[in-house]
Amino acid sequence: MGTPPYTVRRSRQQMVVDVRQGLSRSPKQLSPKYFYDERGSELFEEITQLPEYYLTRAERSLLEQRISQIISTVRPCSLVELGAGSATKTRIILDEMRTSGCAECYVPVDVSKDFLEATALQLRTDYADVQIIPVVSDITEPFELPPSASPTLVAFLGSTIGNFPRAQAVRLLSHIASEMGSSDRFLLGADLIKDPAIINRAYNDSRGVTAAFNLNILERLNRELGADFPVADYEHRAFYSSEQHRVEMHLIARRAHKVTIPEIGEISFEKGESIRTELSYKYDRPTLEDILTASGLLLEKWMPADDNSFALALARAEG
Ligand code: TRP
Repeated sequence: MGTPPYTVRRSRQQMVVDVRQGLSRSPKQLSPKYFYDERGSELFEEITQLPEYYLTRAERSLLEQRISQIISTVRPCSLVELGAGSATKTRIILDEMRTSGCAECYVPVDVSKDFLEATALQLRTDYADVQIIPVVSDITEPFELPPSASPTLVAFLGSTIGNFPRAQAVRLLSHIASEMGSSDRFLLGADLIKDPAIINRAYNDSRGVTAAFNLNILERLNRELGADFPVADYEHRAFYSSEQHRVEMHLIARRAHKVTIPEIGEISFEKGESIRTELSYKYDRPTLEDILTASGLLLEKWMPADDNSFALALARAEG
C-alpha cells in the first residue's frame, strides 16, 4: 500500500516542475517524455506503421537479417530493452535467443507505466518460460536494473538515441556502460543522414498522425494539469536541418493568447510563437562512434542497411 499513489504524486510534481521550467524558457520547450501517456503511446504505435515513417520498417528488416549473427556472437541469456514501447521488435530478439538455447529474462524499461504493463502481459502469454520484469523508469535519469542472468544484451532501438542532444546521449549511454559487465553487449538502432525530403516526409505524414501525436502533449497538459491550451489554435511543424543533422518538432500558436495552468500560473503566447517538443538527430558512423567512445563503449560491429537508411551498432563496455 502507499507506493502507487506516492509514485503518481511524485511524477506529477516532476511534470509541474518540468512544464514550468520549459515554458519559462525562451524559446519555449516541453520535454518529449510527456508525449507518452496512454493516448500518446497509441498514436506513436500508429506512427510506426505509417508508409512515410521508414525507420521502424528499416530497423525491423535489419534486425531480421542480422539477429542470428548477433545472438550467436553475444549468446545472451537476458534482454534489457530501453524505451521498450510495444515490443514488436523484442519478439525477433527473444525468438532467436530461445532458438539458440538461452532466454531467461526480459527487462523492458519505459516511462509509460500502462503501456509497459500491457506489453508485459501480452508477452507473458507467448513467452511463459521467460521471466519478464518490467521497470518503469525515465531512462534520462540514472536507474537501477534488476539482477538478471548474464550475459545481457541491452537493446536501445527505434533511434531513440536521436531524441537526445550529444551531451545527454553521452550521459545516458555512460550510465548504461557502467552497468554492463565484460560479456554484456549494447545493441543500438540509429537513423542515418539521408535525403532531407525523405526525412521531412517521415515527420509530416499525410494522415496527420504525427501532428496529432505532437498536439497530444497539450491535450495531456489540459487533462492532467487542468491547463487551458486552445489546442485547435496550435499547428504541428517539423523540419529537418541539414546543418544540425536533426529534425525539430514544434507546436506553433496561430494567434496570441494566454494559458492558465493552475499550479504554474498564466503564460503568454505570441502569434506564431513556438514550443519545441522534440529533436531527432540523424547520424553517420563517425558521429555515432564518437558518442559511443565518449560514453565508454567500443563499437564492435557496424551494420548498416543496404540502402544506408538506418544502422544497427553492437558495442561493448570499455575496460
Ligand atoms: N526516436 C524516433 C524518431 O526520432 C521516434 C520518435 C520519438 C518520434 N519522438 C517522435 C517520431 C516524434 C515521430 C515524432 O523518429
